[in-house]
Amino acid sequence: MSGEGKAVCVTGGSGFIASWLVKHLLLRGYTVHSTVLNLRDPNQVAHLLAFDGSNERLHLFEADLLEENSFDPAIKGCDGVFHTASPVTFSPLATKAELVDPAVKGTLNVLGSCVRTPSVKRVVVTSSTASILIKENPISPDDVVDETWFSDKEYVEENKQWYILSKILAEEAAWKYAKEKGIDIVTLHPCWVIGPMLQPRLSLINQLILDLIKEGVEFSPAGNYRFIDVRDVANAHIHAFELPSASGRYCLIGVTVHSSKALKIIGKLYPSLALPDKYKEDLLIAPSYQVSQEKAKQLGITLTSLEVSLRDTVESLKDKNFLNF
Ligand SMILES: NC(=O)c1ccc[n+]([C@@H]2O[C@H](COP(=O)([O-])OP(=O)(O)OC[C@H]3O[C@@H](n4cnc5c(N)ncnc54)[C@H](OP(=O)(O)O)[C@@H]3O)[C@@H](O)[C@H]2O)c1
Repeated sequence: MSGEGKAVCVTGGSGFIASWLVKHLLLRGYTVHSTVLNLRDPNQVAHLLAFDGSNERLHLFEADLLEENSFDPAIKGCDGVFHTASPVTFSPLATKAELVDPAVKGTLNVLGSCVRTPSVKRVVVTSSTASILIKENPISPDDVVDETWFSDKEYVEENKQWYILSKILAEEAAWKYAKEKGIDIVTLHPCWVIGPMLQPRLSLINQLILDLIKEGVEFSPAGNYRFIDVRDVANAHIHAFELPSASGRYCLIGVTVHSSKALKIIGKLYPSLALPDKYKEDLLIAPSYQVSQEKAKQLGITLTSLEVSLRDTVESLKDKNFLNF
């Protein structure tokens, strides 16, 4: 266990990705300081307190991204920080300020606490492919997306895509501040994250998977999806912290798959699950762009197969009564 004797902080520990991160960090022997928005809300803390090692090595703190210095107590004495907290919603009702302010001010708040805490050696920031591949001009099947790509900020702003904008601006602010203050940060850029949920609340992408299974509602226009398993994303965070050579940005993209193929896999695993009729025929699948996994491979993570990710997603939706069959 390489985390023994080390303390790390996870911001937004009750979230989908962060809950797995907290669990894996405890399993590796780390002492974990996890922040949550409300310590009195059992939906945010009960599952964290049930992890192996929690009694001995999990410390919970209340912190709000919009409150200055609110992360100081949680980060105090830590060797590393994983900044995952950020509002995650595609709701058309969510305003620009509701998404962008906590993402940007929150990132600067957390990094500010890190600057004031000399024991912090590295900060791993959870960004997204949202800050990499959202372009005004369509990406062609010949293109290979990698870490040198940046989304078109003006295009995203014009289209009022506030979640995407929040991830672009938060990443920009993080790199600018880290360079000014000389702190070591690494940014991770996962695509759609699926997999089993530890927290009681339905995660955003699993909700979209549920809509696809139940009603055939597509959330990607051409039906092409890029998925990565939540457990692989959690492990990538830990490797990005532990690996001395880790630096810069990392695209975390597991598989590219068309919805019809994903649903065929689910149909084979669960023959009693009624899937939308339109997927029974072979659909015309437009070729999708390519994605480089070269840099992510340097993190040394093993990717979960799509079959296992989809199976565990469905099992989790069933266990938590979001899907009944
Ligand atoms: N899921 C994906 O497919 C995906 C893909 C790429 C990148 N990411 C990024 O990964 C990170 C985690 O996402 P997730 O999918 O795990 O979403 P999530 O479950 O909604 O987790 C987000 C966390 O941020 C916390 N948070 C939101 N506003 C806050 C505030 N003002 N102060 C303190 N904490 C606040 C939330 O607390 P509450 O639960 O109490 O609101 C929650 O714990 C985010 O940065 C997201 O942008 C996610």
